[in-house]
Amino acid sequence: MARMSVEPSHIHRVPGPPMRRPRRSDAPALAALANDWEIAKNLRDAFPHPYTLADAEGYLARCESGEIPQSFTIAVDDRLVGGCGLKMQTDIERCSAEIGYWLGKPYWGRGLATAAVRAVTEYAFEHLGLLRVYALPFEENLASARVLEKAGYVREGVLRNAAIKSGRPKNMIMFAITRSP
Ligand SMILES: CC(C)(COP(=O)(O)OP(=O)(O)OC[C@H]1O[C@@H](n2cnc3c(N)ncnc32)[C@H](O)[C@@H]1OP(=O)(O)O)[C@@H](O)C(=O)NCCC(=O)NCCS
Repeated sequence: MARMSVEPSHIHRVPGPPMRRPRRSDAPALAALANDWEIAKNLRDAFPHPYTLADAEGYLARCESGEIPQSFTIAVDDRLVGGCGLKMQTDIERCSAEIGYWLGKPYWGRGLATAAVRAVTEYAFEHLGLLRVYALPFEENLASARVLEKAGYVREGVLRNAAIKSGRPKNMIMFAITRSP
């Protein structure tokens, strides 16, 4: 059974979170696993495809510099297998963040994404003081919808034609979890 790393310490109270901060040394594993259309097709275009080693190094440098502060590596035996992060909202929506996540295909179906979403959601509420975390999977992304349901998110509605991916309009589903102030 693979050992899951538990880091950073401020999300250590969540049972079994396979999370740690990204490191520059994650670049080869990141480039190898992220270069997969089955992953990229479900994400924003900011997640490049093809995904090169230079893309990985650039992303990890931005994480290290603090430009992308709420970004975590999902790790098995300390090796990067995916990512999960929060995009903090601003102005009157500063009480909320969008959660995003992906996992390398060889690691799908083990509950890792659900564990990651649970851990980062608890971190958002307990340590960032947020009141709402939401996700916007494409309507056809049933695996992602299932992850969110398992992590306690509620389906709030359909955002019709809310995005364009590969030149095609996409419906997005708003899933959210909230806490009382
Ligand atoms: C979505 C993703 C993160 C799921 O990762 P994972 O670690 O396999 O997820 P989990 O194992 O925690 O849970 C997946 C659930 O989806 C279910 N599932 C998988 N494929 C499915 C499908 N086609 N239809 C319905 N349910 C599906 C699984 O059975 C499982 O549910 P269960 O535990 O009730 O059986 C992964 O597939 C991925 O990286 N996809 C590409 C990127 C992406 O879509 N990111 C999210 C953008 S919003």
